[in-house]
Amino acid sequence: MAERLTAARQVRVWDLPTRLAHWSIVTLFAICWWTAKSDHMQWHRLAGYGMLAAVWFRLAWGFWGAETSRFSQFVRGPRATVRYVRKLFGRHDDTGTASLGHNPLGALSILAMVGLLLTQTTFGLFAVNVDGFASGPLSRWISYSAGRRFAHWHAANFDLLLVVVAIHLTAIAVYRWVRKERLVPAMIHGRKTVSGPAQEPYFAPWWRAVVLAVGIILCVALIANIR
Ligand code: HEM
Repeated sequence: MAERLTAARQVRVWDLPTRLAHWSIVTLFAICWWTAKSDHMQWHRLAGYGMLAAVWFRLAWGFWGAETSRFSQFVRGPRATVRYVRKLFGRHDDTGTASLGHNPLGALSILAMVGLLLTQTTFGLFAVNVDGFASGPLSRWISYSAGRRFAHWHAANFDLLLVVVAIHLTAIAVYRWVRKERLVPAMIHGRKTVSGPAQEPYFAPWWRAVVLAVGIILCVALIANIR
C-alpha cells in the first residue's frame, strides 16, 4: 500500500487494463448485437471471439489485476450490501468516501454482467443457426437439435443481459444526477476525486496484463480454429 491521503484530491482508481477491457466489452456488445440482428453472422462470430477474450481477461484481472479490479476487494456479503443501501438512502450518507472502487451495489451489477457475458459467449460457441451455416465452432461436438437448443438459450440469455445492462446504465444516471458522482469520466481517465482519508490502491505491473492478454488471445484463436 502506498501513502495515506487525507485532503480532497484526485486519486488514480482504474488502471489501463481495466479501462481497456471495460470499453472493449461495451463496443463489442454493440457490434455482437447489431451483427446478429442484421444477420452478418461471419462478423458476429469474429466480434464474439473478441468478446470472449475481453470477458476472460476481465475475469483473470479480477484475480491477478489491480486492487480495485479484484473480486476479493469489491464483492461484499449481503450484510455489507444492505448496510451500504441503508446509508445511501439515510440522512447521514457517508458512502461517498467509503469505497474507492466499486461500491457493493456496483459489485452486484459487475458480477451479474460478467456472469451473463460468460454464459452468452459459451452458449454462442455451441449454437447452431437454422441452416447450419455460421454455427459456433464447438457445435460440431453436439447434435443439430442440441445446437439449436444452445441457440435458443443464447437468444434468451441476451434478453437477460439487456435487462442487467439497462439497470447498470440507470444506476450510473442516478449517481450522476442525484448524487453528483460522475462514474463514466472516471472509467475513461481512471481518476476519482476523493475527500477524506483514502489509500492509493495497488496496481499490478503492466507486463502481467500483456502475458494474460497474449495467453487468452492464443486460447481463443485455438477454439476459433477447431476443425
Ligand atoms: C456477448 C457476446 C454475444 C452477444 C451479445 C450475442 C448476441 C446474439 C444475438 C442477439 C443473437 C440473435 C438471437 C436471436 O434473436 O435469435 C445471436 C445469435 C447467434 N450467435 Fe451470438 N452473441 C454473442 C457471442 C457469440 C459467440 C462467441 C458466438 C460463437 C462464436 C456466437 C454465435 C451465434 C450464433 C451461431 C447465432 C445464431 C443462432 C440462431 O441462428 O438461432 N455468439 N447472438
